[in-house]
Amino acid sequence: MNYKQALQHTIFKVISKSVNELNLESYVIGGFVRDFILNRGSHKDIDIVAIGSGIELAKQVSKNLPNNPKVQIFKTYGTAMLKYDDLEIEFVGARKESYSEDSRNPVVENGTLEDDQNRRDFTINALAFSLNENNFGELLDPFNGVSDLENKIIRTPLNPDITYSDDPLRMLRAIRFATQLSFKIEDKSLKAITRNNERIKIITKERIVTELHKILESEQPSTGFLLLEKTGLLQFIMPELTALKGIDEVEGQRHKDNFYHTLEVVDNIAKHTDNLWLRWAALLHDIGKAPTKRFSKKVGWTFHGHEFEGSKMVYRLFKRLKMPLNDKMKFVQKMVLMSSRPIVLAQDGVTDSAVRRLVFDAGDYVDDLMTLCEADITTKNPKRFKKYHNNFKIVRQKIVEVEERDHIRNFQPPVSGEEIMKAFNLKPSREIGVIKEAIKEAILEGDIPNEFDAAYKLMLEEGKKLGLKTDEKRQ
Ligand code: CTP
Repeated sequence: MNYKQALQHTIFKVISKSVNELNLESYVIGGFVRDFILNRGSHKDIDIVAIGSGIELAKQVSKNLPNNPKVQIFKTYGTAMLKYDDLEIEFVGARKESYSEDSRNPVVENGTLEDDQNRRDFTINALAFSLNENNFGELLDPFNGVSDLENKIIRTPLNPDITYSDDPLRMLRAIRFATQLSFKIEDKSLKAITRNNERIKIITKERIVTELHKILESEQPSTGFLLLEKTGLLQFIMPELTALKGIDEVEGQRHKDNFYHTLEVVDNIAKHTDNLWLRWAALLHDIGKAPTKRFSKKVGWTFHGHEFEGSKMVYRLFKRLKMPLNDKMKFVQKMVLMSSRPIVLAQDGVTDSAVRRLVFDAGDYVDDLMTLCEADITTKNPKRFKKYHNNFKIVRQKIVEVEERDHIRNFQPPVSGEEIMKAFNLKPSREIGVIKEAIKEAILEGDIPNEFDAAYKLMLEEGKKLGLKTDEKRQ
């Protein structure tokens, strides 16, 4: 079969011309070919392998392109990259590689196309289209990658023990592709991953997190986390999650398995949001349950304070995985910390003041919090499921109503500290805080509206209680 239609972009004609001029051979390989055959939309990262110098080819291609785009050269890897249109094209010379035991850095020798295909991670990523004049568009598929695409199988070109041990990141990539594409990892491969799982320790945290992001961004992230758990990789990456596994039973009382519950929540939330960080929050919302689990005869299993503990663990986990300790992390912390608030509302009945407090504490993230809490309903009791969802509907409605009326979301005190000081002729002091707090409380309780006049009146009353005198001139 010929795949000329995949190669209509001018870049491929230009590469072909350049190859001719340099008397080389070259192929487009990897994700571009895979995604074309899978019909997954156009792949913007294009990997070109040259039988010869990838760097020389990149320079020649640049010469032949309008405006001669800049060639970025990575000497240590012997690769070069240029950008054209919205494409990023990476050139590499065909390689025969072996990796040293304790790092990902390969020892490289020149090789043939087949050598290069051999050292790739999966048969579905070793597919290549020829860019040579004599067979332009021909598919080169020495390991039956196309049939693996059809049968939805992740398989390594070489013995999987060699492929994974050469580059242990591939263990995660296998699981990530299986999750993204809904493919099955061949049994031999899965066993090899399990055997080699400890080697994941030599992979940088950044690369691991890139794969975790991609798993979380998939339609059904649980597929990936179940595989991570099954292969033993998860205990090296996120022991906080494996610690949630299992059901304890004391005196006939059992709690749910919080690991499987968590995965259900992540799949639920994936149906309602593409926000990666909200998906992270779903993944981590219960991690505080392992260290806070207690049993007492009176109340059975409890996880008191797991939200607070969990939010502290989020910081440590982000730090360990070298994830950003910025507003994204704070968002995840906030979601974890507040993750039980709406359900308490939904169980106890929804009062205006409780909704106002929720909006006050969650601020702009109140909708995200509701999305998380709705995803958290995994009860198999249909009556309870319906009741909670109905109550959440009421909460959402009330949030809108309360917001329209009271503007609590980004609460600014209707009477400022300066106005309080002016009214009572005060210097900065404790009393100002007391009065401000009383005003805020009265608004959240619904005793007064969130307006200047009502708040000013309450300020005068509160001031009086504190024995403060108003400034006569002002009155
Ligand atoms: N590759 C590999 N081993 C790795 C990483 C990459 O063999 N650890 C090879 C594969 O042939 C892969 C190609 O390099 O197809 C390009 O890698 P990358 O750009 O990371 O992935 P893609 O396959 O393009 O897929 P995606 O864009 O979804 O990550």
